[in-house]
Amino acid sequence: MCGIVGFTGRENATPIILDGLSKLEYRGYDSAGVVVYSDNKLKVTKCKGEVKELYKATDDGKALVGNIGLGHTRWATHGEPSDINAHPHLSNDEHIAVVHNGIIENYQKLRNMLEAQGFVFRSETDTEVAVDLIQYFYKGNILEAIAEATRRMEGSYALGVICDNDPDTLYAVRKESPLIVGKADGCNLFASDVTALIKYTRDIYYLDDGDIIAMTADDIKFYNSELQPIEKELSKIEWDISAAEKGGYEHFMFKEIMEQPEVIHKTLSPRIRDGRIVLDELTFSDEYLKNVNKLYIVACGSAYHVGIIAKYNIEKLTRIPVEVALASEFRYYSPILDENTLVICISQSGTTADTLAALREAKRLGAKVLSIVNVVGSFIAKEADCVLYTHAGPEIAVATTKGYSTQLAVTYLLGLYLADLKGTVTKEEYSRLLSELEKLPEQMQKVIDNKEHIQYLASLYFNNDDIFFIGRNLDYAITLEGSLKLKEISYIHSEAYAAGELKHGTISLVERGDEHKKGTLVISIATYLELLEKTRSNVEEVRSRGAEILTVTSPEGFETMEKVSDNVITIPSAEQMYTPSLAVVALQLFSYYMALLRGCSIDKPRNLAKSVTVE
Ligand code: F6R
Repeated sequence: MCGIVGFTGRENATPIILDGLSKLEYRGYDSAGVVVYSDNKLKVTKCKGEVKELYKATDDGKALVGNIGLGHTRWATHGEPSDINAHPHLSNDEHIAVVHNGIIENYQKLRNMLEAQGFVFRSETDTEVAVDLIQYFYKGNILEAIAEATRRMEGSYALGVICDNDPDTLYAVRKESPLIVGKADGCNLFASDVTALIKYTRDIYYLDDGDIIAMTADDIKFYNSELQPIEKELSKIEWDISAAEKGGYEHFMFKEIMEQPEVIHKTLSPRIRDGRIVLDELTFSDEYLKNVNKLYIVACGSAYHVGIIAKYNIEKLTRIPVEVALASEFRYYSPILDENTLVICISQSGTTADTLAALREAKRLGAKVLSIVNVVGSFIAKEADCVLYTHAGPEIAVATTKGYSTQLAVTYLLGLYLADLKGTVTKEEYSRLLSELEKLPEQMQKVIDNKEHIQYLASLYFNNDDIFFIGRNLDYAITLEGSLKLKEISYIHSEAYAAGELKHGTISLVERGDEHKKGTLVISIATYLELLEKTRSNVEEVRSRGAEILTVTSPEGFETMEKVSDNVITIPSAEQMYTPSLAVVALQLFSYYMALLRGCSIDKPRNLAKSVTVE
């Protein structure tokens, strides 16, 4: 959601800000804008629509020249997407400009107060309140005005601020909304995430809640919310700029699907040494972990689907009960937790508002929290008691693929690690499962190598309006992700069902085909061998009512399923608990090709945002 870029240096700021904004496009937005200090005043260009409109409006930045400025991509919350509501917003006296991510929850109260003081509001946004509140407190020192204003603001915010009375300095402050500062040679920058900075620097400062910065081209000063100077530690970004670029692929999503064997290897291999799982980052004592008697996995969207697979596997391996909760529900339903409950928060971005709130609630209730996160230094990583990072690299496509797969890989490691610690798995079984796990990248590559067949199947089905996914046990868990992937990028209505559940109502939606149209497409996932015959019976139930059947199965399931299917995708043989990692790649590719054939905006599907920072 919303993105911020701030730049101060010696060259024209506008092209650099526009470039940064285009790197943040993947986060999701519906309007964009830029402000620079030029000819002794603040000059704003903003519009509804895409960053390319800003490029046009500023003649690629050449028509808006200044050495210091701010940019923003807005994902509408308060007020529709429009030119007026787009950021930056100017204060009433037009001496201060602000860009803002997050939500100011008490904005109505503040707006009433300011209106009573004679302030006039031009937009419907909560952000305009912030800039006028800063003007209200401004008595010649902008830093103090920012501190005063933010003390009165409730909710979450990352604010970039510029004031024409202090034209060499950019200011920023944040609370519960990400903002990263980059220190470069002869210029300095800040942005909502690293992708906008990496072209200019790898030297990064992470800000904590309440931190305020004052940044010139040559200097960055850090303050706490009381305006006392503080020191910050410089971190180095490890990954290469090419990781955040398309590298010849038409879409980031396709590139990220292709990268999966490599990132799974990167996630697993440093944690497997001499035939043992070594989780250095898991700093809980063995004694604590042995006494854990309940696991709660809390997440949103695809990360929640990872949790469901983890539940099946971890319960089987460790016999510890595992509950999986949607973070948006968990945070409000008074979960029963104690010091022997370990809460696991899973998040690619590490900034998802509901997951972060659930993490804080879990800690408040006395549980310890482990997070599984991709973005280093993000809130969900920092606030957990410990974090296991997935090493997926930057994920740009809105629909997660490699983020999901690396999360799943970490849950395999964790399940096995706990089972070994608790003695619920024999040494032989532990070693066998571990060596099978190491084969995963190679097996995933084989699924990818089958992409032409999957593309062909998509060409048979891309005109369908309704698609059902069915499966049992791990296969059911994977249907959830297959269905979500399909609907988010191809806009085809689809639903996922436990195969045994379809006949309790939903089967009435299955329609017979005729000479013009095939019957309703049902995609059956049939890799869970113990329940294969049962899945097959469920497939027969829908097939006899006219459904068209596409099955995803393994070589072991092929003979049973082929007879009841119109088409089959065969994934490689693998250890049962890891088959979801293979089936999901087939389903990601299927969704990708379906969306491609339907001409959809694959990397940035309508209405969606990559980082969901509102509840
Ligand atoms: C779906 C997708 C979302 C995310 C969800 C959680 O493709 O990407 O469902 O999985 O918004 O995001 P993170 O993992 O960043 O907390």
